[in-house]
Amino acid sequence: KARSDEETGASNNFLDQFEEDDSNGFLTSDVGGPIADQASLKAGIRGSTLLEDFIFRQKIQHFDHERVPERAVHARGAGAFGTFVSYDDFSNLTAASFLSAKGKETPMFVRFSTVAGSRGSADTARDVHGFATRFYTDEGNFDIVGNNIPVFFIQDAIQFPDLIHSVKPSPDNEIPQAATAHDSAWDFFSSQPSTLHTLFWAMAGSGIPRSYRHMDGFGVHTFRFVKDDGSTKLIKWHWKTMQGKASLVWEEAQVLAGKNADFHRQDLFDAIESGNGPSWELNVQVVDEDKALAFGFDLLDPTKIIPEELAPLQPLGVMTLNANPTNYFAETEQIMFQPGHIVRGIDFTEDPLLQGRIFSYLDTQLNRHGGPNFEQLPINKPRIPIHNNNRDGAGQNIIHKNKFAYTPNTLNGGFPAQANQTTGRGFFTAPKRAASGNLVRELSPTFDDHWTQARLFFNSITPVEQQFLINAIRFEASHVTSKAVKENVLAQLNKVSNDVAKRVALALNLAAPEPDPTFYHDNVTAGISIFNGTLPTI
Ligand code: HEM
Repeated sequence: KARSDEETGASNNFLDQFEEDDSNGFLTSDVGGPIADQASLKAGIRGSTLLEDFIFRQKIQHFDHERVPERAVHARGAGAFGTFVSYDDFSNLTAASFLSAKGKETPMFVRFSTVAGSRGSADTARDVHGFATRFYTDEGNFDIVGNNIPVFFIQDAIQFPDLIHSVKPSPDNEIPQAATAHDSAWDFFSSQPSTLHTLFWAMAGSGIPRSYRHMDGFGVHTFRFVKDDGSTKLIKWHWKTMQGKASLVWEEAQVLAGKNADFHRQDLFDAIESGNGPSWELNVQVVDEDKALAFGFDLLDPTKIIPEELAPLQPLGVMTLNANPTNYFAETEQIMFQPGHIVRGIDFTEDPLLQGRIFSYLDTQLNRHGGPNFEQLPINKPRIPIHNNNRDGAGQNIIHKNKFAYTPNTLNGGFPAQANQTTGRGFFTAPKRAASGNLVRELSPTFDDHWTQARLFFNSITPVEQQFLINAIRFEASHVTSKAVKENVLAQLNKVSNDVAKRVALALNLAAPEPDPTFYHDNVTAGISIFNGTLPTI
């Protein structure tokens, strides 16, 4: 910590108070008694160790409990501290206080990750990459828990366990590259065509980024900006890398996985350590509420981007990473990002994937931490005082003095009081946000088109990148053993593009499918047709 503070003017000073300098002094027991004992207590010099040896038991018992469950997904990752600087006062867009003044600085922590691999897996595995960012704002913690790909595989959170079960290592031998694992992943992708758009991004360069520094980040869902007057706009978050976007090629990724499985975490750590911490510009696309269905797709559908021709990126500020964690476990492992960590000025939308995520992260973190008090850990603790009337629970770290932990009260002078009664600044949910409808268990038909944007993506990349993507699908799908799954993959690819399907069929030794023209329309919207019906051939 001293290292990074002195050399780079680190921004994580707000955590200093929690640091323990245990680098000198003599050994003590867990309750502070000085000890010399580095041998267990035995009956006789060659005798059995005694149950009475509490020093042995304290030490081994703590060691036995050193590991906590890894994240159910995104277990493999690396983090860093940074600072966000707002370009301006954006109160014309949002009441969020970290965007309320030109030059305003907010401390941050960021964690990059892969999704499917375990904590010890290789950094360069082909995967979607997590891009989770926390702003320790002066009105509480705000997290954008995003990915390096702007869309997601599924449209409803109820399918998340299915997606993850299909891409995790084979359940019998825990081998990620086992035939069963390829079969199950591609079985799911081809049975659930909402995955196609994200799959195309993951098979292109975004699946094997050159480093964490060379990735963009995206909030994926449409969120809301809320102004002080309560009015709202629909927005999408974008982090644009200022290092340039770059990927590995597949051969490099494979060699690196063997030669240095920590390639990405080392690159990030070394860049920051040498004073060359990476930067990203935060941008938003802003759309009027009444335009949610105006572009030929639904802004609540997380499998869709808003083409930048329709809603240009508006730059808001820049984040620079400038300090490495002092302790990986305490900080990177114990940070608990949640899509539910929002601040005044930002609100959710009805996106059914986002709605499920708001529940899932809190739920899994209760399990990961083993109790309800993980927000008190130094890396999770907001920079401002917390008055939430919570009490007790495993690992309680606060000695609460207020004996009247309820609101409203008269016995403690009415405190803590509701914020909107004292400051007028208490809202998270946009005032008067409408909700109505009959109960249904189905997705809106406005979520139905899974092929147009996959095609839009394929046609927007260069022929060299297209070949890269085709080669990736050829490589991955050729490991599938089931002929029926392979044929299903081709059938779905053919709905995106007959060219793609034909080129993949060649590598799978299967007959090229006939074009499926009923799918080759461009309903993205009038006027922005990147897809013009002619497919490049290489
Ligand atoms: C973890 C992104 C969808 C459940 C994460 C992390 C990221 C992420 C970046 C790692 C956080 C960290 O570094 O600590 C996303 C994105 C999604 C998505 C961008 C879609 C747009 C979902 C869905 C669910 C889900 C639909 C479940 C319904 C989880 C869980 C974790 C996780 C359980 C582990 C959290 C923890 O243990 O702290 N996700 N995710 N995710 N995600 Fe998601």
